Amino acid sequence: MDGNGRWARLRGLPRIAGHREGVNRVRDIVRAAGELGIKCLTLYAFSCENWKRPKEEVDELMKLLERFLRTQAKEIRKQGLRLRTIGDIAALPEKVRSLLEKTIAESAGNEKGTLVLALNYGSRQEVIAAVRAYALAVREGREDLDALDWDRFSRHLYTGDLPDPDLIIRTSGELRVSNFLLLQGAYAEYCFVQKSWPDFGPADLREAIEAYNARERRFGMTGEQICNGTGQNTRLIS
Ligand code: IPE
Ligand code: MG
Repeated sequence: MDGNGRWARLRGLPRIAGHREGVNRVRDIVRAAGELGIKCLTLYAFSCENWKRPKEEVDELMKLLERFLRTQAKEIRKQGLRLRTIGDIAALPEKVRSLLEKTIAESAGNEKGTLVLALNYGSRQEVIAAVRAYALAVREGREDLDALDWDRFSRHLYTGDLPDPDLIIRTSGELRVSNFLLLQGAYAEYCFVQKSWPDFGPADLREAIEAYNARERRFGMTGEQICNGTGQNTRLIS
């Protein structure tokens, strides 16, 4: 979700006004994703690198996150969503953390879909944490070093029990992935859209999904193999 600051600046507003409008789009997109039957939606809300922003902006972002969690809990329940996070939430303000833990616990049994908030998330940091966890498990005899493969290793990532992303959308015209799900996105389709996040609405989500549906995902195979059936189940919506 990129471009909040530029969206605000273009309108002569402070950056935080862009973040506020961005939260409104989060609500819209969470609802639209539910209506489209998206099983898992991950929102990159705050990266490990975002701590480097001016303190006032970080504080405002945390306040917005707190308010979002307070008001969104009802919606999450209504939509039957399970809330999850990826990232090191221990470093977030106490109020945010306890709200997260409460909503995650309350929604754990919901099965309609999963809403994942990437908070204090960075892909490289995640890999280091997973390597540490795996090494510790080897030392304690819970894992076998010789048996290390992607399947075993990836269980130690924050996304351990989540599916790999099929489609990754970045708004605001930037053509980079900024430390987001670098390994999990190995076979993801990417969609870079010009609009800033505060301008990204349900129709844009649908358009991105339609573009995704028109692509052929080959996973290293040939187009002929895919036409023979292997790739027919990769459409997100019909
Ligand atoms: C994304 O918008 C929001 C967060 C990182 C929380 P930006 O704040 O990065 O907006 P630009 O890139 O400055 O326009
Ligand atoms: Mg940005």
